[in-house]
Amino acid sequence: MNILLLGSGGREHAIAWKIAQSPKVEHLFIAPGNAGTAQVGTNVNMKADDFAAIKDFALANQIDMVVVGPEDPLVKGVYDYFKQDAALCHIPVIGPSKAGAQLEGSKDFAKAFMMRHHIPTARYKSISAENIDEGYAFLESLSAPYVLKADGLAAGKGVLIIDSLEEAKRELGIMLGGMFGDASKTVVIEEFLDGIECSVFVLTDGKSYKILPVAKDYKRIGEGNTGLNTGGMGAVSPVPFADAAFMQKVEERIIRPTVEGLREEGLDYKGFIFLGLINVKGEPLVIEYNCRMGDPETEVVMLRIQSDLVDLLEGVAAGDLASRTLAEDPRAAVTVMLVSGGYPEAYEKGKVITGLEDITDNILFHAGTKAEEGKVLTSGGRVIAISSYGKDKEDALARSFEGARKIHFDKMYYRRDIGFDL
Ligand code: AMP
Ligand code: GLY
Repeated sequence: MNILLLGSGGREHAIAWKIAQSPKVEHLFIAPGNAGTAQVGTNVNMKADDFAAIKDFALANQIDMVVVGPEDPLVKGVYDYFKQDAALCHIPVIGPSKAGAQLEGSKDFAKAFMMRHHIPTARYKSISAENIDEGYAFLESLSAPYVLKADGLAAGKGVLIIDSLEEAKRELGIMLGGMFGDASKTVVIEEFLDGIECSVFVLTDGKSYKILPVAKDYKRIGEGNTGLNTGGMGAVSPVPFADAAFMQKVEERIIRPTVEGLREEGLDYKGFIFLGLINVKGEPLVIEYNCRMGDPETEVVMLRIQSDLVDLLEGVAAGDLASRTLAEDPRAAVTVMLVSGGYPEAYEKGKVITGLEDITDNILFHAGTKAEEGKVLTSGGRVIAISSYGKDKEDALARSFEGARKIHFDKMYYRRDIGFDL
């Protein structure tokens, strides 16, 4: 079969790497892809949310399945675009409908969904300019720190965690005033939860589901989880605290009611659900839903899926996921992200990356690279994820750090403490 994968980051390289291993695949195209995806498939110069171009390409190249990496095309309705077009409706899109993608596209929607289905999450109140006084009162009823979330997509920057009540009130006004444009016309105020986070990924055909290997990501730029938030500095899988007892609670209290709730509400959802969870004294609560895989978690999760991913995705499309097998690799997997100096603030691009050919013991997933005149150059803040297997997390990390020492580009930085808190 011919598969078109949408997206261009490390997540998409990892998905492409896994798809390309399937004997079922004839041609894999990635739009727009990066220098890494070009090693496992054919890059197509087309934006992941240019639906008209995607249509023309899919028809001209006998595409049999579209797999969507990032949230943007999903929230904009790529699933519905295919379903409603007579020429495209035979091509399954792996990802939720626009309505289902609201789990990520609107925090207000996601919180109300969780309330309707009794899914554990932080107490909250949704506030708009009209009821800002209720927002102030709700903030006063909470204790510090205060969590303010823009309702809509804000490129991962829409969550503020604030220590003082006065400042939280002031920021609420600024957010509602358009700090994140339309995305913060509604703000969700949440109770702060104190615990340790993990990322649980579920693949669903809308009826049944498979739980993929659990991962933990490291978002802050600095060691010890300090400094600014990034797109992700590393990840590990498995996560020791996500043991059988914890995962049983996650499945009963969160996963099953989520999949059943989507179905009951008639929200078409055939794709990945990303549950951002927090473990508060052994009890799982939902911090957020995403309608896609996580980055950089995918750069470890794909290593730990032993089964043919394409077979599972076919099960999603056909609605018979329950009859497909998902086997996990028993080894640990980790990834360490090499980033450009200065990231997540200003950084330079176009640095020559050397040493890639010396890597033998790692799997490299390109995040922000481009190939030019036989060289590989940096083209983003997050540049390359160095993934490794190991008998345990320490063993896998030692291999990734060994790989990192072989790769060079000007002002390269990476965290040397991935997994430190587990
Ligand atoms: P989100 O974009 O919803 O994932 O939020 C970004 C990050 O903010 C999360 O990964 C958490 O670390 C933190 N966060 C969000 N909501 C809460 C909460 N209610 N309590 C504590 N931390 C939170
Ligand atoms: N690693 C978190 C995310 O992909 O949103």
